[in-house]
Amino acid sequence: MNNTIHKVKVLPNKIIIEAKENENLMSALLRHGIDLGGVCGGKGLCGKCLIKVIEGKTSETTVQEKKWQKAGGFEYRLACQTRILSDATIEVLETFVGSKMKILSWIIEKKFELEPSVKILSLNIKKPSLEHQEADLNKILSESKLQTFDPRILKKISHNLWNANFKVNAIVYNEELLDILPQEPKTKVYGIAFDIGTTTVVGYLYNLEDGSLISVRAKYNEQIKFGEDVISRIDFAGKSDKNMKLMQEAVISTINSIIEELVKAANISYNQIYDMVCSGNTVMTSFLLGNDCHYSSKAPYIPSFTLPVKCKARDLGIMVNQTAYIRTLPLISAYVGGDVVADILVSEIYKASEPTALIDLGTNGEVVVKVGEKFLATSCAAGPALEGYSIRNGMRAVEGAIESVSISEDGNEVYYRTIGGSKPVGICGSGIIETIAWMKIRGIINKTGKILEGSSKRVFRENGELQFLLAKEDETMNGKKIVITQTDIRKIQLAKAAIFSSLITLSRLGNIEVLDLHKLFVAGAFGTYVDPFYAIIIGLLPDIPRERFIQIGNGSGAGASMLLLSRKKWEEATDIVKSVSVIELNLIKFFKDEFINATYFPHKNEELFKNSLEKLGLL
Ligand code: FES
Repeated sequence: MNNTIHKVKVLPNKIIIEAKENENLMSALLRHGIDLGGVCGGKGLCGKCLIKVIEGKTSETTVQEKKWQKAGGFEYRLACQTRILSDATIEVLETFVGSKMKILSWIIEKKFELEPSVKILSLNIKKPSLEHQEADLNKILSESKLQTFDPRILKKISHNLWNANFKVNAIVYNEELLDILPQEPKTKVYGIAFDIGTTTVVGYLYNLEDGSLISVRAKYNEQIKFGEDVISRIDFAGKSDKNMKLMQEAVISTINSIIEELVKAANISYNQIYDMVCSGNTVMTSFLLGNDCHYSSKAPYIPSFTLPVKCKARDLGIMVNQTAYIRTLPLISAYVGGDVVADILVSEIYKASEPTALIDLGTNGEVVVKVGEKFLATSCAAGPALEGYSIRNGMRAVEGAIESVSISEDGNEVYYRTIGGSKPVGICGSGIIETIAWMKIRGIINKTGKILEGSSKRVFRENGELQFLLAKEDETMNGKKIVITQTDIRKIQLAKAAIFSSLITLSRLGNIEVLDLHKLFVAGAFGTYVDPFYAIIIGLLPDIPRERFIQIGNGSGAGASMLLLSRKKWEEATDIVKSVSVIELNLIKFFKDEFINATYFPHKNEELFKNSLEKLGLL
């Protein structure tokens, strides 16, 4: 027996792993914590473990691999079918590495100076006497060189000062005194960055002293009960003051329940949270602040405000320290909001010299294109389908959600993987995209998105609607089958057409073809987990080489985090707002046609997707 140990360098991260002579590459990778996301148990059936062998000796290509090479490219191999016969260098597709990153973990690596607006000042105040008489507050303000204070402090200032023997910590927001606490025991101060999405709200709890991310929690936005998209919510909120109040209360209730979980997870008190930055589209930002967007929803679409806003937590009923400020990002227009400013800030697309685009995949899709001096942005109603909401068996990307799928060549077998590896409960956005892509590859749906009867044993009709069976009753956690219905496919079709047609329209306005894009940033939590290969097959993303895609995760949350932790970044945010031109798509003559063309899978003009379609033998 040959006991030789080979060194295998794994690109792009240049990790060196060890593999025994003749060892299966997938096993060696797994042993070193690199999971390529296979869903077929290493049988060579799902095609999820594609890798490139850059150098070194490996086993012969198997029959299974040859089938996959047709689709993925002949330079690829399947890790589960490859055995290592010498030292080697292999390359794992960036997406697989990316999909393992947890939301925002990368932001820590982003270089920016930690300079939060809230800080702690340690003060040793001189004790007063009959000779040295100065009011407690005056003494603290002059000692800490501050001009202003939160009047709430008056309730406890003397009590805290005298009880702590005049050794206190002042909690300060920029130039304002927020709180006075004894120096012992030392209090840590925290802040929360919120991404307020139309469908999902995510909160990131940070330690403001060292900038470390403590915990992350997400929930569906409770406003969903008033409508799935921003238009229906504006209609509801605009009907009466009572409705507007209900809308505002719904998002604040969502925020408060996330804060409750964050506080519990970190074992801290609400009172230790002294700052909060909220990023959201214009409508979400407006609703949070109690503005119903009535006028901004009608032509000529003028928003009530675009400036950044700050108000006290107590004014909104948010459960953090009541002296804390709640800050919102500057907005660009009625439909291009603070979340886009956040994406731009994080991706640094404003610094790009080559044609570059940014897409934020969410209920409200946003697209930004920068070509030379042209910096264009627009927003489109994609609907919540891409986030797993409004799909028959859709769910958020949490444990039990089918996140990755493959369909056998005959269309009759389905391989899937769930988040957490448990039995499936439903399917999340990335799983839906992959399912539809495979249905297209296997000929189960046609170009127009119609499910074809007789194309697979898994296609059936129930209550008059054609459906594709993903998981049978006995496979699932709750004993209910998981399907993709024709209606689900229609919803995805409209969502992806909204995004792609916006991208192609802005590219044309920038005098470039969509395939000329040098880089494409994909933002949105959902975007992080979507493999561009599948997104291209359904025509959600353009057919450009995969190394041009850069997934930035939840850009809205990341941008809010940056602004929570860096005072300087607010200046950049303000400059971004001034430099972007907003495009009203309805005024663009060719937009409607582009939208219709983009409803096809992948597109009416297949030439645009020639590269991928040819590889798959679909053209
Ligand atoms: Fe390799 Fe499925 S794990 S093809």
